[in-house]
Amino acid sequence: MNINNTVLLKTDAYIGGEWISKSSKFPVYNPFDGSLIAEVSDCDRDDVRLAIDKAADAMKVWASFSASKRSRILKNWYQLQLKNSKDLGHILTVEQGKPIAEAIGEIKYGASYVEWFAEEARRIYGDVIPGHASNKRITVIKQPVGVVGAITPWNFPSAMITRKIAPALAAGCTVVIKPSELTPLSALALGQLAEEAGFPPGVINIVTASKPAEIGEELTSNPKVKKISFTGSTRVGKLLLKQSADQIKKVSLELGGNAPFIVFDDADIDAAVKGCIDSKFRNAGQTCICTNRIFVQDAVYDKFLLGLENAIMQLELGNGLEEGVNVGPMITKAAVQKDIELLNEAVDGGAEVRMGGRALEGQFMEPTLVCNVKPSMRLFSDEIFGPVAVMYRFETEEEVISLANQTEYGLASYFYGRDYARIWRVAEALEYGMVGINTGMISTAVAPFGGVKHSGFGREGSKYGFEDYLNIKYMCWGL
Ligand code: SIN
Repeated sequence: MNINNTVLLKTDAYIGGEWISKSSKFPVYNPFDGSLIAEVSDCDRDDVRLAIDKAADAMKVWASFSASKRSRILKNWYQLQLKNSKDLGHILTVEQGKPIAEAIGEIKYGASYVEWFAEEARRIYGDVIPGHASNKRITVIKQPVGVVGAITPWNFPSAMITRKIAPALAAGCTVVIKPSELTPLSALALGQLAEEAGFPPGVINIVTASKPAEIGEELTSNPKVKKISFTGSTRVGKLLLKQSADQIKKVSLELGGNAPFIVFDDADIDAAVKGCIDSKFRNAGQTCICTNRIFVQDAVYDKFLLGLENAIMQLELGNGLEEGVNVGPMITKAAVQKDIELLNEAVDGGAEVRMGGRALEGQFMEPTLVCNVKPSMRLFSDEIFGPVAVMYRFETEEEVISLANQTEYGLASYFYGRDYARIWRVAEALEYGMVGINTGMISTAVAPFGGVKHSGFGREGSKYGFEDYLNIKYMCWGL
C-alpha cells in the first residue's frame, strides 16, 4: 500500500495495549479489483473476553483521570488523525472503495467527533436541586457507565468508530471495538494512533474477527460490558437488543434508513438537484442516510428530472484512488446483486429505468435512475444501499407526507422548498430523527445523529451524544 507512515498498517488485534497476533487469519480484499490487501488476526470468543477484562481493569485508571487529562489525550489523538489524514484516507479507500477525497473527508469528519468530545469532557456538569423538605438537599452527578462494546460497520470504517468511542472515552468509559471484518485496517490504524496519543493500556481495545456473531454474543452476554453501541442493519440491531436484554445493558442502535427527499414546487431546483446528488451518490449510495425515495411535485417534476439526469451523467465511476472518480465500487458482489434484484422486480411491475441499471465488471453498479415505481415494490420499502435513484411524482403536501412516512424506518429525511409555514409543517410531520431542509448534507459532530422507529435509538454527536455513556446518580442529603 502506497502510504508514507507505514506504521499505520497493522494486521493484529489490539488488546490491553498489546498487538496480538493470532495464528488464524482472515483476508481483506480491495473492492475495486478484488486483490488481497492483508491477512488480519482472527480473534475468537476468548480474545474478546480478554479484551473485556482488560477494559474493565483499565476503567479504574481512566475514570480516575481528571476530565482535563482525558481531554488532553483525546486532543492528541485528534491531532494525530489530522496529521495522518492522507494515509488514513488511502487505507480507507483501498479497503472500502470510496473515492479518496471522500475518504479523507471521512477521516476529518471522524476526527471532528474526537475534537468535539475532547472539549466536552470538561463540561460533564451535575446539578443541585432544591430539596423537597427543609432538612433535605439534593445533588446530581454523572458517572461513566463502564465498559462499552462498539460494533461498527464497513461503510464508514473510521468515522463510526470515533463517533461512538469519543464520547465514551471523554465520559471516562473504556471500550472494546469490533470493526467490520470487511474493513478492519482503518480501525487498527486508529488503534496505532491511540497508542501514540497516550491512552493507557486497555482503554481502547480492537478485536478483529471474521465471525461477528460469536463476538457480538460475548459482548452482549458478558456482565462486565455495560453498554452496547451498534451501527448496522436493523436485523442485526434487533438481535443485539434481544441478546442485551438478559443483562439489562444500555444499548444505542443506529440502523437502516429509507430517506425521503421531497422537492416542492417552490424549491430552488438547481440546489435541489445538487443536494439530491450529494445525498444519493455519496459512498456509492451506501450510507444509512442516503436518499432512498425522491418525491417531486407535479409542476417541477420534468425540470428536476432533466437536472438530475444531467448531473448523473457527470458522475465518474472507477478506482477511488484515481483523480476525478466520484463513485467507487460497491462493497461486495452480493451488494450489487441485491440492487439488480430490486431493479428487476420493479421493471417486471412496470417501472422505467431511464439511466444505467446494469451491474458492471467487478463490483460496480452503474449510477441508475428509475421512474414509475409503486409503493408496493421493494424499491420503495427496502433500503437500496447502492447508486440507484428512484423518482416519484406527487401533487399535494398531505399526499407526500403520507408517502414519506410510509416506512418502518425513521432515520434521515430531506426536503426543498421556500414557503416557511410549509417548511415548519413538513419538518414537524416527518417521522424521522433528522430532517435536512434545503440541504442534502446533514452530518456533523455538533448535531445529534440518530433515528426513530426501526432505525434505532440513541444519539451520536453533540451534547446529546454523551447521555448514553453516563449514568445519573442522585444524592439525597439529610441535614
Ligand atoms: C451512516 O451511514 O450511518 C453514517 C452516515 C454519516 O455519518 O453521515
